[in-house]
Parts: sequence; structure tokens; C-alpha cells
Amino acid sequence: MSVATASTAAPVKVSRLAVFWQSQVGKKFVSAVTGVLLFTFVVGHLLGNMQAFQGAEKFNAYAHFLQNAKAIVWPTRIIMLAALILHATAGIQLWLRSREARPQPYRVPLANPATPSSKTMIWTGLLTLGFLVFHLLDLTLGAAFVHSGFVAGEAYQNLVATFRNFGKVIFYSASIVGIGFHLSHGLYSLWQSLGFRHPLWTPTIMKVALLVGVFLSIAYLTIPAGVVTGLIRL
Ligand code: HEM
Repeated sequence: MSVATASTAAPVKVSRLAVFWQSQVGKKFVSAVTGVLLFTFVVGHLLGNMQAFQGAEKFNAYAHFLQNAKAIVWPTRIIMLAALILHATAGIQLWLRSREARPQPYRVPLANPATPSSKTMIWTGLLTLGFLVFHLLDLTLGAAFVHSGFVAGEAYQNLVATFRNFGKVIFYSASIVGIGFHLSHGLYSLWQSLGFRHPLWTPTIMKVALLVGVFLSIAYLTIPAGVVTGLIRL
């Protein structure tokens, strides 16, 4: 008589959070929520940077306030860094999965074709990451200051020195245009990721998202343009 032996291996307990993160819906949700957080940073940072048009005193006072407000700045930095890591990881994993699922592009035109922004999300996302690394080395740490001396704490002087370098003007401008594309599509697709799709509202959201992306890009571009034209000067 044979005796059936029961498996002694304990069942692996997977948390609900891990199951959620592993799912397509979960990654899209995380991408949408962290995208909103990062978007608020981009808007806030723009408002702060616009003070460059008010001169060195005003801009440096704002920068010094931030440098000294450690109780606000450090928690914000940690939250934003966590949001950035989650957003980038979810985005890269979703892109890899979609490539595995459909290695060949569709031959028949789709009813809802992808826009240039949506097709380039992975590349504009990676560009944003690369830009951020360079930007931190440049204006926060001064490590990318090969052309002139970086003065710690003198944010206005450093900003003007950066945009007196033609290569940096081109790099910043191209990156800002890429980030604008990324934001345009992100602001539209996050609604789909959160489950909101409506025949009337979705096309409107798409247009508004495009306008917001273009507006933010132009607004950021005014800063290097301000230095190049002499509106922002020492
Ligand atoms: C013309 C465009 C931009 C200018 C002139 C600019 C200017 C600056 C300056 C002056 C600082 C250093 C502040 C200080 O240390 O006192 C800074 C930091 C930073 N910028 Fe920008 N920025 C620009 C675009 C962007 C964009 C598009 C992003 C995001 C996608 C971004 C993300 C950051 C981050 C994450 C920091 C570090 C903040 C921190 O230290 O907590 N910047 N930027």
C-alpha cells in the first residue's frame, strides 16, 4: 500500500502590496501617483526659478531660505527621490513588459494610434534622468563647472555662469523640450492609469495636458533665454 506524502514546504506568503506592485494595474497606478508628485515639484521649481528675473538679491534670498529650511527641504527631497525611483522603475518595467508582449510593431493602423509623445515616453524619461544627474552636478554641487568657478551658496551667479556656456544652453534647452513632451503625455495618460476614461473628457484632457507641457517648457526656456539676451545678468 502506498502512502501519499504531504508536502512539508511552507506556502510562500506574498504580501498584497507585492502582488499589487507586480501587476500591470499596480505599476500604472504607482507611476501615476508618483508622476503627480514629481509634476508638483516641476511647477514649484519653475516658480522659484522665475525669481531670477527679479535680480540677484531676490533669487539668492530665495535660494538661501531653501538651503537653511532643512526641516522642509530634507523630507521633501526624500519623498521626491523615492517618487522618482518608483516612477522610473515602474516606467522601465512597463516598457520592458510591453516589448516582451509585442516584439513586432502593429502592421494594421490602430483605432487609437500612439502620439509621438507616447511612443517616446521611455526615451524622454531616460533623458529626464540624465538631465537631472547633470543638473545636480551643475547647479547644486558645481561639479560640472568646467568653464568657470562655482560659488557655493551663490545660486544666481552660478545660474548666470551656466547659461553663459553655449553647450549648456543647448543641453538644457533640448532637455527642457524633452521633459515637456514627457509631461504632456504623462499628464494625459495618468487619468487612464487611475481608471478615468470618458468619450467627452478624454480628448479635452489630452489637449489640456499638451498645453500644460508646452507652457511649462516655454516658461523654463525663458531662463536660459533671459541670460542669453542679457535680461538676467550679473
Ligand atoms: C532652466 C531650467 C532650470 C534652472 C535654471 C534650474 C535651476 C536650479 C538651481 C539654481 C538649483 C540649485 C538650487 C540651490 O542649490 O540653491 C536647482 C536644483 C534642482 N533642480 Fe533645477 N533648474 C532648472 C530645471 C529643472 C528641471 C526641469 C528639473 C526637473 C525635471 C529640475 C530639478 C532640480 C532638482 C531636483 C534640484 C535639486 C533640488 C535640491 O537640492 O533639493 N530643475 N535647479
